[in-house]
Parts: sequence; C-alpha cells; structure tokens
Amino acid sequence: MATTDFNMDNHWLPFTPNRAFKKAPRIFVGADGMEFTTHDGRKVVDGISSLWCVGAGHNRKPINEAIKKQLDTLDYATAFQASNDQAFKAAEMIAALAPGDLNKVLFCNSGSEAADTALKVALAYHRARGEGHRTVFIGREKGYHGVGFGGMSVGGIPANRKVFGSAFLPRVDHLRFIHDPVNNAYIHHQEPEWQEDILLELENRILPLHDPSNVAAVIVEPVAGSAGWYLPPKGYLKRLREICDKHGILLIFDEVITGFGRLGTNFGADFYGVVPDMLTFAKCVTNGVIPLGGVVCRDKLYEAMMKTDAPEHVIEFFHGYTYSGHPVACAAAIATLELLQKEALFQRAGEMGKVLGDAFHSTFKGLPNVIGIRSMGLAAAVELAPIAGSPGKRAYDIFVDCFNNGSLVRPAGDVLVIAPPYIVEKSHIDRLVNTLADSIRKHA
Ligand SMILES: Cc1ncc(COP(=O)(O)O)c(C=O)c1O
Repeated sequence: MATTDFNMDNHWLPFTPNRAFKKAPRIFVGADGMEFTTHDGRKVVDGISSLWCVGAGHNRKPINEAIKKQLDTLDYATAFQASNDQAFKAAEMIAALAPGDLNKVLFCNSGSEAADTALKVALAYHRARGEGHRTVFIGREKGYHGVGFGGMSVGGIPANRKVFGSAFLPRVDHLRFIHDPVNNAYIHHQEPEWQEDILLELENRILPLHDPSNVAAVIVEPVAGSAGWYLPPKGYLKRLREICDKHGILLIFDEVITGFGRLGTNFGADFYGVVPDMLTFAKCVTNGVIPLGGVVCRDKLYEAMMKTDAPEHVIEFFHGYTYSGHPVACAAAIATLELLQKEALFQRAGEMGKVLGDAFHSTFKGLPNVIGIRSMGLAAAVELAPIAGSPGKRAYDIFVDCFNNGSLVRPAGDVLVIAPPYIVEKSHIDRLVNTLADSIRKHA
C-alpha cells in the first residue's frame, strides 16, 4: 500500500509534529506478537509496548476472543444508575492485585481522566470529613499526569504546561525533580543514593508555605515514565508516605506506566513497598486493545463518602464518565489480567528487565553524546547531550532513524526509552539496542 493511498488531511495527530509526519508518515496496518507491519510492508519491532500498553504482546487471541464474545452478549449498558457484570468482575480482579486496602475501583477511560478523578476524590474525601479547606495539590517537576486541566496543573513537564498555565488549578506546588545527573547518571537496576534528603524541601519549605492543614494530596509517579524513566532516590517513597501520614495528606501514585507488571511486580507500590491512598492505572490493563483507566482507592476514602447524612437516593460522589466500566473494555481487562497471570508475565518482565538493563549499560556507555543510562524493571533510558539551541532534536532524529531501520523506540526530550512487551526475547532486545546504538553513532 503506498503513502498516497491515505488522505492525511483530516487526522490531527496527538503529541506529534504533524508537518514533519505528513511529509514522511509512519503508519501501521498490522501487528502480531512483538512486531508491526507498516503501510509500505515493512516490519518494525515494538520497543515501547506501544506507549507502555501492550504488555502481553500484540494480537493475543484470548483477549480478542473475550472482546468478540462480549460484543455478542452485552455491547454497552448505561454506566449511571445501573451497571454491568463485567465491571464488577474487573474491579474485583484489579482490587485483588492492588496492595493493602486499595479496594474500591472508580473506572474511567484514560490516564488523564484517572489523574483528574483522583484529584477530585481527594477534594471530596476531605470535604466529607469536614476538611474542605484542604485544596492544595502537590505534584513534582517533570511529572506527567496526562492532559486534563487537573493532571496538567500537577504535572511538571514544561512543554506541556507552557501554553495552558493561565487555566491551571489555583493552588498547586511542585516537589523538585528526582534526578542527580552528576552522581547518579548511570543506574542499573539499583535505587539511586543521594547525599542529601531531597524531601526536606517538602517538610521545610513547601508544607509550611501552604500550611500542611490546607494540603489535599501529593501525586507522584513511582518512576517518572514520560519524562524519560527517572528513578526515585532510595527510601524516597517511604519517606513521602510518612510525611503525608504525619499531616493527614493523601498520597496518590500515578501508576499508569508502572501498574500491571512493568517493574516485575503488580504495581510500583509493591516494588517500593509503599501503599498509597489512591493508585491510578490505564495502560496494560487491557493490553492496549480498548481504552480503560481507573483509580483504586483505599477503603477509608469510599467509607468516608458513604457516611453522609443525605438520604439514600442522593449520589455520594458527583463524578463519572459515560463509558466508566464499559462492558467490552472490562471484558478485555479480565482476559488481559488472566493472560498476564497464566503466562507469569509480570515475573518475566522482571527477568527480561535485567537483560535489557545489561544490554543498555554494556552497549551505550561511552557512545558519543551519552550522558546517562537508567534501567529498572522492563524499561531503560539512554540520555543524550542535546544539540546546542535545539533541545530534543537529536533524540527525535534518532527515533526516526530507528523507525526507518525497523525499531520503534521512544524519544522524551533528549532521552530515548525502550520498554518492550513482557513477551520480549533476547533477540528482540539485541535488535532494538543495536539499532539504537548505530543511530546514536550516526547522529554524533
Ligand atoms: C504516568 C502517566 N499518567 C497519565 C498519563 C495519561 O494517560 P492518557 O494518555 O491515557 O490520558 C500517562 C500517559 O502516558 C502517564 O504516563
């Protein structure tokens, strides 16, 4: 199929330089296992699980069959004032995977909606307890929580914020970034050690500035994914939990990337041994096949909102989406979670992550412009020195070149990330890493 068979006038591509794309499009028409087929008949290895979504690999029959069966049984049913059997079953499975008493699942359709939902739960929970003055949110520099106004406000990626700042939530602050490029440039499946306690800033500056009694929640990704796979300092998340507990502040983990196996455990919360008050998810839960996101809340949040004096016909939480708990999406989630479990794919992600990390550190260290390498779970990042005056261009050019050579990698600023499906074999890792290494040399 030739490029000219597509009319490209109407589709405005998300998070894509449209002008460049339309001159040299990258269009997939098929996928199976670890590989895509492009419109011009080439094979491309999926080195990024298609935006961290496709843990079990592409075109998995048990998921496809479950979706087809669900379509023939119950295609859709109103999500408000009634529900469907698949939503209850999917919620039960997700709650069983989540740690501690994270037991109540609010469904939505994306990571952005999950972040905004979690922020709204935080406000409603505090208000239900008579602490409606708690309205300050704290995010983190370089955090990514999607593109809704709530998620953007607590997010910390400058390019995503630049144009929209005037419409942000009014009371938001940010923790400092968690990367030390001098002492922790190269991290191979270990927790970065810091000389200083970077959470002192929260205790000594941010909380006193707003007064802790006004703070509703802190939201962080256990590992900062979209910014380029930045790892939390050793003990950071535990200490964050302690500080939040001390001041009655809710802790939200955005697990859109770290959820469902990326670190070799159910969630990042399990990997780091810290139970948040809410945990958001969206990717991997349906293997990317159908949009589904959600927030898993601790029992106490749900209970506080059910403990109301309002009569029973009154809705306790005025929030939800038309497609919350869509039966077909939930059927896909049930089949995905069963498949991930049956094939022990979380464990495999952990094992193959070490292989990926070894390949990154042995191949990229010392290549031109490489200034850092980070690996943890089944994801690794190589950071490059930017071209002076053109930040992001080096990684973008390398990404395009890798694509043209059959490997899909992900640029994030001047970082390149590989995070393949959990079914990845060593031969795929070698191919992805070697293609990327050749391209890094080519773009020196
Ligand atoms: C940590 C995190 N949160 C939220 C989102 C937003 O998810 P979505 O694009 O499904 O809205 C993403 C997307 O990459 C993410 O990585």
